[in-house]
Amino acid sequence: MAFSEELKERIEYTDSVLKTYMPKVEGFEKTVLSAMDYTVFAGGKRIRPILMSEVYKLFGGNDKVIEPFMAAIEMIHTYSLIHDDLPALDNDDYRRGRKTAHVVYGEAMAILAGDGLLNFAYETATKAFDMVAEGKDNEGVAKELLMRKRIEKALSILASKPGVHGMIGGQTVDVEMTGQRLSKEQLVYIYENKTGALIEAAMTIGAILAGADESAVETIKNAAYNIGMAFQIQDDILDETATFEELGKPIHSDEESGKVTYVTIHGMEASSAEVERLSNIALDNIRGIRDEDGFVIELVKYLIHRTN
Ligand code: IPE
Ligand code: IPE
Ligand code: MG
Ligand code: MG
Ligand code: MG
Repeated sequence: MAFSEELKERIEYTDSVLKTYMPKVEGFEKTVLSAMDYTVFAGGKRIRPILMSEVYKLFGGNDKVIEPFMAAIEMIHTYSLIHDDLPALDNDDYRRGRKTAHVVYGEAMAILAGDGLLNFAYETATKAFDMVAEGKDNEGVAKELLMRKRIEKALSILASKPGVHGMIGGQTVDVEMTGQRLSKEQLVYIYENKTGALIEAAMTIGAILAGADESAVETIKNAAYNIGMAFQIQDDILDETATFEELGKPIHSDEESGKVTYVTIHGMEASSAEVERLSNIALDNIRGIRDEDGFVIELVKYLIHRTN
């Protein structure tokens, strides 16, 4: 099957998982539920849940227990986008080819929809515990305990990486330093946190739920770091080079808001080279685990030259 077909299949699978777990739009609270639904199902590349499920498969995982975590990471990512687009942050009017949540539903509802998605992500992820009951014999009890331990670890990553010492930390410095000169260390801090942290969470959760050992999880972390950095630099490149139709979000947004990015510091050519260099390190990391070019490898290669 061609890569684009395989990717489409995985996006559709992720969408079906999200459909299973997203709350129904009903009740007195339906406005906020509708704003959540609107942004989650506006499209999106679903890179984080796909990476999670592919890493899970890379380590032999083959159970539905990964699905509530796939849904949860995309809910958290979508919340981060809704808040990132708010007038107080990047002030962007389009996302995933649609008007942003705050434009359609107003700022108050967009803030609440973000909050709602963040909380609902954890409500969803904890459903993994209901999926590991193994029956009463000794072997079944031991297997259930083992899975419960893995889910606990995964939950702790899902709780910390999007937080103040992860994504929120990165967003804080990004917002605070808008319009100002950045040191190399500050730029790396922003990228590894605002973007890298969720990618790292996605990939390490996949590894942990599949039972990867500590050193393999460390390797996946390294791969995720490089993929995350490359992904954000490519995002900065596309802000300058892509069209609105390709991106589904405003172009030249960074320039308009006075953001200093890898591209504004190093220029376009060096930035593209860096995306390639970082991605190649990630490819080496992953090939160190499984020496065959599976879908994750193809996906990382695809991301180097992505146009949306
Ligand atoms: C956008 O993420 C925010 C960044 C971290 C660059 P994506 O590029 O994954 O956005 P969607 O999910 O496809 O809309
Ligand atoms: C996004 O960085 C990081 C998060 C949403 C956490 P950007 O601000 O560059 O993302 P886009 O370009 O708006 O998607
Ligand atoms: Mg931003
Ligand atoms: Mg933004
Ligand atoms: Mg951007």
